[in-house]
Amino acid sequence: MDSIVVTGGTPLNGQIAIAGAKNAALTLMPATLLSEEPLTLTNAPRLSDIATMIALLQSLGVEVTSMQDGKVQVLSSHAMTSTTADYEIVRKMRASNLVLGPLLARHHQAIVSLPGGCAIGARPMDIHVTALEAMGAEIELKDGYLHAKAPGGLKGAKVPLRFASVGATENVLMAATLAKGTTVIENAAREPEIVDLAKCLRSMGAQIAGEGSSTITIQGVDRLGAATHPVVTDRIELGTYMLAPVFAGGEVECLGGRLDLVGSFVEKLDAAGVDVTETPGGLKVKRRADRAKAVDVTTEVFPGFPTDLQAQMMAMLCTADGTSVLEEKIFENRFMHAPELIRMGADIEVQGGVATVTGVERLKGAPVMATDLRASVSLILAGLAAEGESTVSRIYHLDRGYEHIEEKLSAVGAKIERISS
Ligand code: EPZ
Repeated sequence: MDSIVVTGGTPLNGQIAIAGAKNAALTLMPATLLSEEPLTLTNAPRLSDIATMIALLQSLGVEVTSMQDGKVQVLSSHAMTSTTADYEIVRKMRASNLVLGPLLARHHQAIVSLPGGCAIGARPMDIHVTALEAMGAEIELKDGYLHAKAPGGLKGAKVPLRFASVGATENVLMAATLAKGTTVIENAAREPEIVDLAKCLRSMGAQIAGEGSSTITIQGVDRLGAATHPVVTDRIELGTYMLAPVFAGGEVECLGGRLDLVGSFVEKLDAAGVDVTETPGGLKVKRRADRAKAVDVTTEVFPGFPTDLQAQMMAMLCTADGTSVLEEKIFENRFMHAPELIRMGADIEVQGGVATVTGVERLKGAPVMATDLRASVSLILAGLAAEGESTVSRIYHLDRGYEHIEEKLSAVGAKIERISS
């Protein structure tokens, strides 16, 4: 298994290009199942999760042509061979469950394995199931698979979500585009990836209004057509690299960065003593003083502070001046990076969903282990600020969501290298 070695203490200077969003691409790709015409995605990220989604769609009979080193994906589901998403693939990536809505909408049936839990939580699918049943789907859990069918197709309905689940909103939004009648999703997720999906579906011919708000209204149509859609910038990769100069010092410009994608995150950075400036190319970030200031963080659904940036923020606060309290309200077990940061000398106390971080002057490099995607990148960032060398193992977690991280960070001066073993 590969590992990454980081040697801390070098200020960073230069530009980092931000890729297309993993969490947008993972819902845009299954949208191809809604139409027999081709869907072309540009600005697609090159990540192992994308390769997993390609494998899943190909197992259903979707033709996928990757061009420009994977930045362009052309998907066509005119020759489907299956409507079963197999456990072997789904267990590797929860987002595989996003084929459920489109398969039901166009093929009126689907067998989708439950994803099973993952490191950060149980991650059930009850909200997806309840919503699709409200649209007339009959869904039964058997042998770890959801057996779903919609004889005669789905029907438009009022669909209140008990929690603004991102995945459930995406499954229902896609399903509703071909349902008979009007669907109103209440308490819909408002994440930029939802807005991006709605834009793509509209360019395929869907009739959607309200995306980005808590109420999305979809008027079903008979069929959807071809489209070409640029994947929106990855706001989590953006937030991650915006933190790099806060750890290591220096100034970094994140190309493609947009303030509207990271509003609440930038508010917290400002409170922590970090300057974020809009430039023609993106966002420039620089720490105002030698040490950031402690701030309290609570993760919320968008537009609140994103849970996917909690680990990275915690790592930064480990060397801030003062005590910070971080509350994780989206997932039940998303502090696994804490014990690894403690190995580097951090002072963190975890009580259930609340972590109290007392800033120390400097972290010390150490061998640490990645446990999930965002925890692994928080350890890489911590290594940039630590004294000496840190080795992060099990970085297959990292490759799921960050393309060529060692190249992007080396290009702005970081001492970082991948060790293949
Ligand atoms: C998406 O996951 C993202 N993944 C996650 O990013 C992100 O952390 C999450 O949204 C929250 O923003 C993709 O978009 C591929 P949810 P999703 O449904 O859709 C509970 C990353 O690091 N829940 O909004 O699975 C669930 O257990 C990943 O890129 C139910 O209880 O998130 C969780 O506690 C990690 N029942 C909470 O809601 C359900 O039916 C949020 O889940 C569905 C969800």
